[in-house]
Amino acid sequence: MGNVAVVGVQWGDEGKGKVVDWLSVRADVVVRFQGGHNAGHTLVVGDQTYKLSLLPLGVVRGTLSIIGNGVVVDPWALLSEIDKIRTQGVNITPDVLKLAENAALILPVHSVLDKAREEASGSAKIGTTGRGIGPAYEDKVGRRAIRVCDLTDPDSLGCKVEKLVAHHNALLRGLGAAEVNAKEITAALIEIAPKILPYTAVVWQLLNDIRHTRKRILFEGAQGAMLDVDHGTYPYVTSSNTVAGNVATGSGVGPSQVGYVLGICKAYTTRVGAGPFPTELFDEIGEAIGDKGREFGTVTGRRRRCGWFDAVLVRQAIKVGGVHGIALTKLDILDGFKELKICTGYSLNGEIIKHFPAVEHLQGKIEPVYESMPGWDESTQGARSWKELNANAIKYIRRIEELIEAPVALLSTSPQRDDTILVQDPFAI
Ligand code: IMP
Repeated sequence: MGNVAVVGVQWGDEGKGKVVDWLSVRADVVVRFQGGHNAGHTLVVGDQTYKLSLLPLGVVRGTLSIIGNGVVVDPWALLSEIDKIRTQGVNITPDVLKLAENAALILPVHSVLDKAREEASGSAKIGTTGRGIGPAYEDKVGRRAIRVCDLTDPDSLGCKVEKLVAHHNALLRGLGAAEVNAKEITAALIEIAPKILPYTAVVWQLLNDIRHTRKRILFEGAQGAMLDVDHGTYPYVTSSNTVAGNVATGSGVGPSQVGYVLGICKAYTTRVGAGPFPTELFDEIGEAIGDKGREFGTVTGRRRRCGWFDAVLVRQAIKVGGVHGIALTKLDILDGFKELKICTGYSLNGEIIKHFPAVEHLQGKIEPVYESMPGWDESTQGARSWKELNANAIKYIRRIEELIEAPVALLSTSPQRDDTILVQDPFAI
């Protein structure tokens, strides 16, 4: 069928940007289906670095790019990202970018609430990006969201905003935060509408037409499986389903159209924000991985927590997400380490378990069980064929494949697009 879904299988920041870019050259359309501008995708093309949050990565190469209904869209952030990317020489027009008319909007009140709630949570903070993602999804399932299509009807927009604001002001009062004004929000939306509406489309229909012309669709996930609202480390998660199961509902294609599911996975583990992280390293090795891997959040600039590869979590992500194969990224960051560890199970009350427990107090009790592997001195950076990899690096990859029960389809050996080893072409399957 030729469609591919790219999803993170850890806690996000796995290097999806580069892989999506690499695949987008072979795709006719790139579609975002969940998340919002909490995502941070970096892509390096020659001497240019592009940092995108809400725009599908396809826009950089002029590939038709779609923001699906499952995405929560901050219209101001969208326009400012379009402007920013224009200054880098990428012209985004309504011919290249389409926005689902039924996507829910993120309003300024959502980020106010997001931040106020985090502040009020003290040590129980989730460590959100503060972009209003959670409150916007809450409004969507609470059936009071303002959607992109509401911008076409200023007469009913005011009433909808009033309803939403009544709900939020009650919450803001409770949190001791300043209330918001419905008329001001409505006026701001009416003002921005003419700039947003040219991008809108009936996305399910567009994708249906594309499918009938046998074009290749690339679905671009954001965040990672361990941040999935159902399957992740709840409540320390984002507010959308990040797994490939959401491709269908988040873009308006049937489940049969998802195609090959490619899980993006770092050769070690990182996490930004709060929440459990069994293999986290608090020593100089963790620090060295963070420094070498330049592990700072694209959106918030926060230092990412770093740790050993956790095969239990990745295997779980592969099973719940129906992942066919993985793209292993940042192997070169491990060059030069004497010993590498892989977590193969968790010890809990004297027993070994092979899954991450859902019960929060048990999550605090589990101890990772490690297998040790020899490291390597040789550089793997920039390798473009299997032959250029040393024996220990290959052993490390093979062991990961065994433990996670999925093959490595792609290996990325630097941020540059061509520093990639293709084992299995996801579009050809
Ligand atoms: P929210 O998505 O802003 O609500 O944040 C919820 C959690 O998801 C926090 O721990 C964030 O750090 C994390 N998160 C959200 N987006 C990303 C991402 O793109 N990469 C990594 N972590 C993310």
